[in-house]
Amino acid sequence: MTEIFEKTSINTMALPNRLVRSATWEGMCDPDGRPGSRLIEYYNTLAKGGIGLIISGYTFICPEGKQLPGQMGIHTDDFADTFNKMTDIVHNAGGKIAIQLVHAGGQANQKMSGHPPLAPSAVKVAQFPVIPTMLSQTDIKDIVKAFSQASLRAKSYGFDGIQIHCAHGYLINQFLSPLTNQRADEYGGSIENRSRFLFKVYEEIRSVVGESFPLFIKLNAADYVDGGLEIEDAVWVSKKLSQKGIDAIEVSSGTGASGALTPIRTKIISPDKEAYNLEHALAIKDEVSCPVMAVGGFRSSEIIEKAIKEKGIDFISLSRPLIREPDLPDRWKQGDNRPAACISCNKCFKPGLFKGGIYCVPKRAEANNH
Ligand SMILES: Cc1cc2nc3c(=O)[nH]c(=O)nc-3n(C[C@H](O)[C@H](O)[C@H](O)COP(=O)(O)O)c2cc1C
Repeated sequence: MTEIFEKTSINTMALPNRLVRSATWEGMCDPDGRPGSRLIEYYNTLAKGGIGLIISGYTFICPEGKQLPGQMGIHTDDFADTFNKMTDIVHNAGGKIAIQLVHAGGQANQKMSGHPPLAPSAVKVAQFPVIPTMLSQTDIKDIVKAFSQASLRAKSYGFDGIQIHCAHGYLINQFLSPLTNQRADEYGGSIENRSRFLFKVYEEIRSVVGESFPLFIKLNAADYVDGGLEIEDAVWVSKKLSQKGIDAIEVSSGTGASGALTPIRTKIISPDKEAYNLEHALAIKDEVSCPVMAVGGFRSSEIIEKAIKEKGIDFISLSRPLIREPDLPDRWKQGDNRPAACISCNKCFKPGLFKGGIYCVPKRAEANNH
């Protein structure tokens, strides 16, 4: 497994291997978004388990963009001490941590955010719980500013990089999708127009964090909803971002309304079900000059090794396998090549919603039975 565990880098960030903890909402923050001590300890455990790069759970950049309980917020300067502690703990454990920035847009939850959801267009679609309010041009400018202010904070708190969340049906993805973006101004219509908001966010963040600071994106290669974003447009956007200097692209797919093709597919019970975004990630890789990460259903070290060595993907991201086994990278490195023990049941969500933080439910049940 030399390829998985070879040293590499993203821009100025040196990494010990090609494994990434994909952004995973943990539900371990206070109601105002301040990271809780349980979350900081969780990142410590992940860093000690050998993952090359941790990407934080999706973090709201302004209160209107919040979706779930226990979600992390970076909309204020008030949590500086807690964030500093978080990045110090990860660094002391030998790890690296990037923050994933999000505005949930029409997928925001008014009970969490205290505001009616905002989106590119006021449309009724399955992925929105209610019909959102259409963003004005002033709102758009304010949100772009909120992304850059959040980024400045993240850099000053010692994060090693920033990932812009442009996947899974959240606000930036809503702008890219012809289904959720039906605007008649310069932000809607052609793919050039639908990507204008993303490019503004990218350029604004880049201008405040500088050229050498690792800045990357998680992008849907396809939404898998009728009328949503499709691979051709995703490739176009990726090419442009690569030309603009993005440092990496993580390729995912699906929204909450995509049925079995959700971003978080279940029943990954055989090797042929694994690596479900790899082909799309390779299509994007063919057209860009930056590193590409593939996420979604990776469970076997052999499949990961093959994706890197034979297919040329740069990084593999994992979410659920690390909820069950935070030390999975070290286990594989030490030669125990058994696949991840995760059974892709998605039961980890519920304790995040109701018990103060995600955990692997089957693993805990097994432990209690012994
Ligand atoms: C509990 C949970 C929370 C998640 N939260 C996020 C998130 O905050 N941001 C994000 O981009 N993806 C999130 N995801 C999706 C994962 O990053 C990943 O794309 C997906 O689970 C597929 O990868 P896997 O098969 O390795 O789990 C979450 C997944 C789970 C299970």
